[in-house]
Amino acid sequence: MPGPDAARIRVVRGDITKLAVDAIVNAANTSLLGGGGVDGAIHRAAGPGLLEECRRLGGCETGDAKLTSGYDLPAAYVIHTPGPVYHDGTRGEPALLASCYRRCLEIAREHGVETIAFPAISTGIFGYPLDEAADIAVTTIAAELRAHELPREVVLCTFSQEATNAILDRLARK
Ligand code: AR6
Repeated sequence: MPGPDAARIRVVRGDITKLAVDAIVNAANTSLLGGGGVDGAIHRAAGPGLLEECRRLGGCETGDAKLTSGYDLPAAYVIHTPGPVYHDGTRGEPALLASCYRRCLEIAREHGVETIAFPAISTGIFGYPLDEAADIAVTTIAAELRAHELPREVVLCTFSQEATNAILDRLARK
């Protein structure tokens, strides 16, 4: 049976830029100046104000996160986090990926965010295997939700059927 913390995690398949949540997370790179994948989609949907604000942030370290306004997005905020590039899993990738989820949730709390949506950070261009990434995402988020009232609800936004299955499998084992 899922515990109360797991009940606060929801899986939604689709485009994260369409979600009407308080904050969406961007799987960015350390420049914070945009890119492909979900990063490109978020910048396109938010409009040029987002890149302008990102330029003033001076980049971000892998595993850390920084918040901006959401501009033309339904979400009030975007929290940008550069995930690790996956090599073979022995170069600190798991700790860095967990840190992305934790830092996003910390920053969200500081801004009173009640609902937040994450993409599957690092599992596209950065090559993180989906099952391992899903395990880290669910474990890290569940621990944060156990310890804090905010955010009230976390959406795991998946783009592919494969990612959806990986997350649902992992959640079922909670
Ligand atoms: N909504 C939700 N998920 C999406 C969307 C979308 N619109 N588009 C893609 N995904 P990726 P990374 C999924 O490559 O691996 C960029 O160039 C996708 O299927 O966007 O962290 C950055 O600037 C995958 O499961 O991010 C960095 O340079 C997940 O989002 C680099 O890519 C993450 O895939 C970051 O690579």
